[in-house]
Amino acid sequence: MPALIVAGAQWGDEGKGKLVDYLAMQAHAVARYQGGHNAGHTVVINNEKFILHLIPSGILHEGKLCVIGNGVVIDPECLIEEMDALLNRGINIGENLLISENAHLIMPYHMALESASESRMGKKAIGTTGRGIGPAYMDKMARCGIRMSDILNAALFRERLRAALEKTNRLLDVLYGAPAFDLEEVFDKYTGFAERLKKHVGNAGFILNKALREGKNVLIEGAQGTLLDIDHGSYPYVTSSNASAGGACTGLGIGPTMIKGVMGVVKAYTTRVGGGPFPTELEDKQGEYLREKGGEYGATTGRPRRCGWLDIVALDHAVRVNGLSGFALTKLDILDGLDTIKVCTAYRLDGVVTREFPPDASTLERCEPVYEELKGWKESTSGVKKLGDLPANARKYIEWIEDRLGIGADMISTGQRRDELIVNKENFH
Ligand code: GDP
Ligand code: IMO
Ligand code: MG
Repeated sequence: MPALIVAGAQWGDEGKGKLVDYLAMQAHAVARYQGGHNAGHTVVINNEKFILHLIPSGILHEGKLCVIGNGVVIDPECLIEEMDALLNRGINIGENLLISENAHLIMPYHMALESASESRMGKKAIGTTGRGIGPAYMDKMARCGIRMSDILNAALFRERLRAALEKTNRLLDVLYGAPAFDLEEVFDKYTGFAERLKKHVGNAGFILNKALREGKNVLIEGAQGTLLDIDHGSYPYVTSSNASAGGACTGLGIGPTMIKGVMGVVKAYTTRVGGGPFPTELEDKQGEYLREKGGEYGATTGRPRRCGWLDIVALDHAVRVNGLSGFALTKLDILDGLDTIKVCTAYRLDGVVTREFPPDASTLERCEPVYEELKGWKESTSGVKKLGDLPANARKYIEWIEDRLGIGADMISTGQRRDELIVNKENFH
């Protein structure tokens, strides 16, 4: 099987990092296609915890090609920090990192624009990670962005930066009364980054296509989740990229015929960070219990994650939008010990029951969850590696989800560590 996409099926933080780290063992390359260092992907190996933001979660395996695709927005300073942090922990990136020359860069003024705009919005703020992601994609789409290849050519970079600053400095001043950026200062800083990164920059699409044509396995790592997708999520409370599987082709420069499977990562309950509607949110003791037991604090910003029950309406939307071929259920162990587990099977919208995920936040805001109650289990599932070793009610919970979504649970994760995993179906065979 050439390319397998692993994408978040909820609002992010489903446990993509852990699964990508596991699946990477059977892959030639691991590639990120969208987002930036707003992502925080946790991998735990032998009680050692790594949080990856931009570098694909395959980097912890020796000799694995890790690709940052053209669809990703890169803050080069943060990328270098991440590389250095790995190096300090004995992970040698060597020749294994490949950055697309077409990837757009996050510039310091993107952060300034975002912070000014978020504070202006007050209660309606998106609650972004503050990484400059949205403004970087704005410039990309407005065709005035700066790409990785641009900073490798000093004359061209200076020209592009001059044009960008002419516009952005005015914008910062007129709209927000914020200070301007100095051309030479930004120029010097970014040419310094270019010096460090240039040996990793190349034609990522070409190299990935070559690997695929040779029949090598490519693992594609999504960031964020379907409900944060710019087109298919709870707009405008979303991120600024196509986090769902559709983004993988444009974000890497490979064709849809190369994709042989799409695995959705589904947390056994739901979490969300930042603003926006969340129908199954638990703003009570039960929500606090899930947050504390699940360690639900942002891997990037440390913010407490909002917690709630599993939402089948939203997941069914994710099955369709991504064309999921299967799913991986994570954090099953966090539900251990509950008497009952609630699951949302429909929404009540203005008095009418619907199973359709509404396309905008203002409608989703008005949706009330319709719940079914399933029996919980008292036994621990922590670290279980075989389906048959799970308590009967935990198996029933999984089967119930499979039945509702019409796809199988290819993997079930029962703990943070790489080996705390049940594998029902090997996706790379
Ligand atoms: P990602 O952004 O999708 O990669 O997910 P995060 O890393 O932001 O958040 C998932 C958190 O859950 C991390 O702390 C993981 O180590 C942890 N995790 C993943 N799978 C499991 C699991 O099955 N059980 C438990 N207890 N923790 C898990
Ligand atoms: P991973 O890959 C969870 C959320 C932010 C905010 C919205 C927009 O770890 O699953 P942005 O900074 O992207 O413009 O913020 O998206 N968000 C995430 N939530 N996991 C993530 O990534 C996220 N990346 C962004 O909290 O609500
Ligand atoms: Mg995360």
